Amino acid sequence: MTVRVGVIGAGWIGMEHIRRLTDTITGARVTAVTDIDAARAEEAAAPVGARMLPDGAAVVAADDVDAVLVTSWGPTHAEHVLSAIAAGKPVFCEKPLATTAEDCLKIVEAETAHGRRLVQVGFMRRYDAGYRRMKQVIDSGRIGEPLIVHCAHRNPTVPESYTSHMAALDTAVHEVDVLRWLLDDEIVSTQVVTPRATSKRFAHLKDPQIMLFETAKGVRIDLEVFVNCQYGYDIQCEAVGEEGLVRLPDPASVGVRTTGQHSTEVLTDWVGRFADAFDTEFREWIAGIAAGDEPTGPSAWDGYAATVITAATVVALESGRVVATDLKPRPAFYGGAA
Ligand SMILES: NC(=O)c1ccc[n+]([C@@H]2O[C@H](COP(=O)([O-])OP(=O)(O)OC[C@H]3O[C@@H](n4cnc5c(N)ncnc54)[C@H](O)[C@@H]3O)[C@@H](O)[C@H]2O)c1
Repeated sequence: MTVRVGVIGAGWIGMEHIRRLTDTITGARVTAVTDIDAARAEEAAAPVGARMLPDGAAVVAADDVDAVLVTSWGPTHAEHVLSAIAAGKPVFCEKPLATTAEDCLKIVEAETAHGRRLVQVGFMRRYDAGYRRMKQVIDSGRIGEPLIVHCAHRNPTVPESYTSHMAALDTAVHEVDVLRWLLDDEIVSTQVVTPRATSKRFAHLKDPQIMLFETAKGVRIDLEVFVNCQYGYDIQCEAVGEEGLVRLPDPASVGVRTTGQHSTEVLTDWVGRFADAFDTEFREWIAGIAAGDEPTGPSAWDGYAATVITAATVVALESGRVVATDLKPRPAFYGGAA
């Protein structure tokens, strides 16, 4: 079966995923595209032989669309996801699931009422080979019970439009999701401390930030978010357990020895770092739909948790306090207590 995908939002990542579904993944075909910018929709649709449709509702309703991909701006996600659930169609929504807890809960309620999982949220790190190996080690018990996790999320630079709140909402959101999954645990409180600011930032920005999370089981996570580190795009994660530790591998790179030095490359952009993870994420999503299975990736509940935890982290940054995340209990539909 070829899964026919309709795409809502043909911007940067929409175009990336259309290319991925067309050239990299087998078993999928993009049949419909919409964007509020008609020229963009046309530019995305024409090369892959897809129809251009007037809006998201038309994409969801189209007879030649089996599954919906939402890659529009964050505040528009909830509307499109809810309409896909109402039509009973699988929907992949790029992060965030929605920008408010209320909208996330509306999606959770609609999917629960439907009675079968339809929603997957685009947290691609769960598909990264290194994180997957880390999870296997943690789940096997080889390092004992996890106690502490040290993480860093570093970007070389960010544009002037990047705000201090985006450190939680757009950057740390990926660690929030992958750590909940790695530890099979929930984040119950968040705090942000700000060390001396780098002179390389735009003046309005608090950079770096150190985020401190506590989980329900008492694991402590420290996450350095440093988005003007200059030297590269660098993702670090080390889980310390009672009997050992497990560390995320750096991307494979040849060692170079020359003029008295031994060096390896550091990547400079996130696209290259997670390209394989994006491919695997879509390969598994499409294979699951073709097999008639429910999605196994990040759920609407995970999308809700990420939105609530990152919003609490913004409050923590502004207040300087430890902020409880106050998540609702996880419903049985999503696996019950974490
Ligand atoms: N998983 C990741 O690492 C990752 C990476 C990049 C972007 N994203 C997410 O993907 C989403 C899109 O990001 P982007 O960088 O492609 O942004 P973008 O601005 O390049 O593209 C968004 C597109 O959506 C269109 N659009 C907006 N509202 C619409 C609507 N209601 N109906 C149809 N089209 C609409 C815009 O015209 C634009 O072309 C964001 O939510 C972003 O957070 C996720």
